[in-house]
Amino acid sequence: MAKASVMTVAIMAICLWSLISFALAADKFNVVGKVYCDTCRVEFETKLSEPIPGAWVKLECRKVNDEVVTLSREAVTNATGGYNIPVEGEHEEQICEVRVDKSPRADCNEKMEAWEKAQVQLSSQDGLAQPIRTANNLGFRKKEPLPGCAQLLKKMGFPLIG
Ligand SMILES: *[C@@H]1O[C@H](CO)[C@@H](O)[C@H](O)[C@H]1NC(C)=O
Repeated sequence: MAKASVMTVAIMAICLWSLISFALAADKFNVVGKVYCDTCRVEFETKLSEPIPGAWVKLECRKVNDEVVTLSREAVTNATGGYNIPVEGEHEEQICEVRVDKSPRADCNEKMEAWEKAQVQLSSQDGLAQPIRTANNLGFRKKEPLPGCAQLLKKMGFPLIG
């Protein structure tokens, strides 16, 4: 009887240990963010910026030394312009970036440097315990500014733009 329970405890300990090491090894992250239309063509967010549903974004991780791609995922923004890309695994010593790919809006599909891509950390070694990694907002520039932009920018203290 005593022998059997020692055995049971040992088996339980082994099970627990493998569960814990599995949990530690399987790092899971969620890269979340939003895609906007820069309706005033100013390359920063204003009150008139509009979320873009149905926009394609691409997440890529590359090794720092040889730029080999280690991860590539695509996602489409939801009704409120948000995306959520689940990622598994450690990506330390890598540069991970999410960038805009395609816009569903013909009137708002110009890429611009300021909102084209955003870096995210996908490593738990960086001291961030949170699995949710929020990327800076991304966006496309509208071809024609909205009529309300001139007034809005003037109110914000910017000189009038065409
Ligand atoms: C859209 O995605 C974002 C990010 O995952 C989420 O916070 C938001 O609740 C989603 N909205 C809808 C309408 O599904």
